[in-house]
Amino acid sequence: MVILNLVSIEIIKGGGFSLTGEITLPGDKSISHRAIILGSISKGPTTVRGFLKCDDTLSTVNALRMLGVSIQIGPEIVRIKGKGLFGLREPEDVIDAGNSGTTARLLTGLLSPQGFFSVITGDRYLKARPMERVVVPLKLMGAKISGRENAKRLPLAIEGGKLSAISYHLPVASAQVKSAILLAGLYLGEETEVIETIPTRDHTERMLSYLGIDVERKDSAVRIKGGRDPEGGEITVPADISSAAFFMVAALINPGSELLIKGVGINPLRTGIIEILRDMGGKIEILNEREESGEPVGDVFVKSSTLKPTEIKGEIIPRAIDELPVVAVAACFAEGTTIIRDAKELRVKETDRIKAMTTELKKLGADIEELEDGMVIKGRGTLRGARCSSWGDHRIAMALAVAGTRAEGTTEIEDADCVSVSFPGFFELIRRLRERTKSQIE
Ligand code: S3P
Repeated sequence: MVILNLVSIEIIKGGGFSLTGEITLPGDKSISHRAIILGSISKGPTTVRGFLKCDDTLSTVNALRMLGVSIQIGPEIVRIKGKGLFGLREPEDVIDAGNSGTTARLLTGLLSPQGFFSVITGDRYLKARPMERVVVPLKLMGAKISGRENAKRLPLAIEGGKLSAISYHLPVASAQVKSAILLAGLYLGEETEVIETIPTRDHTERMLSYLGIDVERKDSAVRIKGGRDPEGGEITVPADISSAAFFMVAALINPGSELLIKGVGINPLRTGIIEILRDMGGKIEILNEREESGEPVGDVFVKSSTLKPTEIKGEIIPRAIDELPVVAVAACFAEGTTIIRDAKELRVKETDRIKAMTTELKKLGADIEELEDGMVIKGRGTLRGARCSSWGDHRIAMALAVAGTRAEGTTEIEDADCVSVSFPGFFELIRRLRERTKSQIE
């Protein structure tokens, strides 16, 4: 990595290389956040294996430490001394969620029913993201929250207090909003209900059940009856399918690849990426399916494939939302027109991912256009290396790196150190895989 004027630049050698052998990837980010939060308010101790140590999850760890929880991060195991539902204490300072939307939104739910005052803020990207989606339902429950732009943006000040249960139809498909409401509902003796029109990741529901809380799921409704401490326990976090997605696409578009990605979380509400890539002709197999800590896990075997274009829209979008930037890269190598629609949420992620991907892939020679709610990509089977920018967004940086592996020439990615938000070691792993190919040839 080269650091010029405090902007880190990663250089990706193009021309293609075969990704072969086995890899094990870091733990799932969504599940890691939830393990820290639920472990902290459980009755007994909790141990977490496979915890993802990255900027985002460490923001959650720091927050819970400020709330009085002892969390020890060892090389293999994270140990949390749960305080029970009512054991958290008032933080002495503002809680900084950094770049992490999950930290900010889930903690807004957790802090609303507490008997103390707290303030949550974030970095400049997070401060620009919408918070009213959590504030509105929590206020309906009686939460006292104020903040910038009429509580639409961080920082938010939460005057903790007694809440009451609601039944709430989610107006946006968001697991963070659903989870914030469920966390607040965990403090109430009555039943809180969240109704989704399009299903979103259910890691919170699964982990609550795993820790002994009554969560009923029927059709599109989730109901929680709280008032009882979750039981601490042993939680194993699978590898993050959102991180695996970059290697799936890299293996598909780089000739001669045969890559086994071990122990990946394959929760059906996260496997939209596998369905999309298979639909594009990607050879992807799931082996050794099993369950760990209430979550489905499997090994993912990927072989280079000739990709064809597709249309992606509707209910699959929330099940693949974080992977759409790298789907756009796959589409550049699928000859013909790929269309992504119904994905307006991409505009309010860490950055506007529709604008970021169209702008940056154009620099690499892609034929790609923005739609209000998606992208149209005319795949030509090639890209050419260029200098481009991550826009400070980890998933844009990694998607561009995948494009760079197969582009002609060299791709330079500015502001690339943001990958530490979800995947420290990403670029080292790309280099290691390239070295592996070289040593096979020698
Ligand atoms: C997440 C939910 C999704 C996802 C984000 C993580 C979670 O966000 O994009 O990366 O852990 O609940 P939304 O809830 O905003 O859809």
